[in-house]
Amino acid sequence: MRAQLALLALLLPLASAFRLPTVGDAVDFASLLVDDRGAADTVLAPASDITLASVTDEYHVLVSAAHPRHKVRVKSTTGWCDPSARSYSGYLDVGGGKELYFAYFESRRAPSKDPVMMWINGGPGSSSAMGLYGELGPCRINPGPKTVNDTTPNPHSWNNEANIFFLDQPIDVGFSHAHNGQVVGNVHDAAKDVVAFIQIFFDTFKELEGRELHLSGESYGGRYLPVFASAVYDANAALVDAGKTPINLQSVLIGNGLPDLYSMLESFRLMGCQQQEGINGTILNIDQCIALRANTAKCLEITTKHCLDRFEPVDCAIGFDYCMIEVFSASRWAHVNPYDARLHCFPGEPGCYSVFDDIEAYLNLPDVQHKLGIPKGYKYEMTAIDVGERFRGALDWTGKTWEYVAELLERGVRVLNYAGMVDWVCNHVGQEIWIDKFDWTGKAAFNAEKLADWSVDGKKAGYVKSHGGLTFLKILDAGHMVPMDQPANAAAFLKQWLDNGVVGK
Ligand SMILES: *[C@@H]1O[C@H](CO)[C@@H](O)[C@H](O)[C@H]1NC(C)=O
Ligand SMILES: *[C@@H]1O[C@H](CO)[C@@H](O)[C@H](O)[C@H]1NC(C)=O
Repeated sequence: MRAQLALLALLLPLASAFRLPTVGDAVDFASLLVDDRGAADTVLAPASDITLASVTDEYHVLVSAAHPRHKVRVKSTTGWCDPSARSYSGYLDVGGGKELYFAYFESRRAPSKDPVMMWINGGPGSSSAMGLYGELGPCRINPGPKTVNDTTPNPHSWNNEANIFFLDQPIDVGFSHAHNGQVVGNVHDAAKDVVAFIQIFFDTFKELEGRELHLSGESYGGRYLPVFASAVYDANAALVDAGKTPINLQSVLIGNGLPDLYSMLESFRLMGCQQQEGINGTILNIDQCIALRANTAKCLEITTKHCLDRFEPVDCAIGFDYCMIEVFSASRWAHVNPYDARLHCFPGEPGCYSVFDDIEAYLNLPDVQHKLGIPKGYKYEMTAIDVGERFRGALDWTGKTWEYVAELLERGVRVLNYAGMVDWVCNHVGQEIWIDKFDWTGKAAFNAEKLADWSVDGKKAGYVKSHGGLTFLKILDAGHMVPMDQPANAAAFLKQWLDNGVVGK
């Protein structure tokens, strides 16, 4: 049991990863669809009459003629978190009372022209509040927050040039919830809800119709995003048939992600036992490296045979568990932080990524929940352990996500795969293995490219190569959460990607 919990703590970040799930105060989500704030506080309107600009800080419940079963509840939060942009917070009912929470910030540049971005965190089970308040969002939470105003604007926020929504998904993650007991435990079911969300979002907020869309995220987001993007892309045919504007999907951005578990498993020995730029010495000692060499061979043999060549769930599960304990978690042998190999503390220990404790505390403050329009008494947790367990149980990790990356590239959807170079869990060595290995039309030309220095303001910030819509970027002095460790450099590559379609040229 201890091993199980320890494993869960890995991709499933962070501060609360060791906590057992708790049953929060009962929240009557059914009542939300009516109105839990009293009629005077709520504007009921057909979505076609609504633009975002007309949404006030009263609650609006929007019903679109095209999606009569899907209510959107949204309120303005303008002035909070980002004083320089309009913002909104709300829930979108993707069907049967499955309410996905989003926080939306307009671009600080040109909201009526700039592209739309989605950001999700990984886990599975991590709330996108981690990205919003800890990495790339418009504000950071002050240490020991006491009121809704305990935030500081982030000058490197990704809404500098994009309209961005942070989505808590799948249901049961963060503020997202299903009030009829539905659960989601694999990427394909999650994709159905995300496609519904994106379609209804663009349908409801008319001023965004047809706007460029970029899907971004990190960690297990590298499993989610290629599948989500493919589902969004394929669903466009039905939108066109129905005479609607298709979703203008342009690109996918994956930060220290997991599109290929097997390459990552292969990489840990190389990451741990060879000299790595930015890390003194090797992460593991000689005895550990010799053990890891044997464990890696065994892990890859079992998973290749039972997960990859043929999917045999019982044997695949045995192999997967072996790999997680004996290979994936090897950074624990050296008490090295799995998200930053320069650190010797483990997530969940006091003072290790305490920023996540502050975010969780902030989102449980009553005046914050009131500002965001969260039902009274909601117990917010940044990590939904039960969601992580469901995905693990379904062996969702073992899927061939790189095949979706290939199909997206064939269709002209660009892919940026970026990696902080001192991350362990989804390290840059494993990224380089999969990105050169997977099969697509541009493979030979991409592989022929060499990584070139990438600089920001004349200072070397990493390495980059690209071909045919695919870009691979390594970022120096950054761990698993690149925009947290290198906010200015992350803002720089985002601007290059959105404005030029490549990084560094
Ligand atoms: C937060 O700031 C707003 C705007 O300045 C102010 O009206 C409000 O009273 C403040 N709230 C708290 C709890 O300090
Ligand atoms: C590596 O060692 C040097 C010299 O002791 C030190 O200055 C530097 O901070 C160390 N770097 C890391 C990443 O630990």
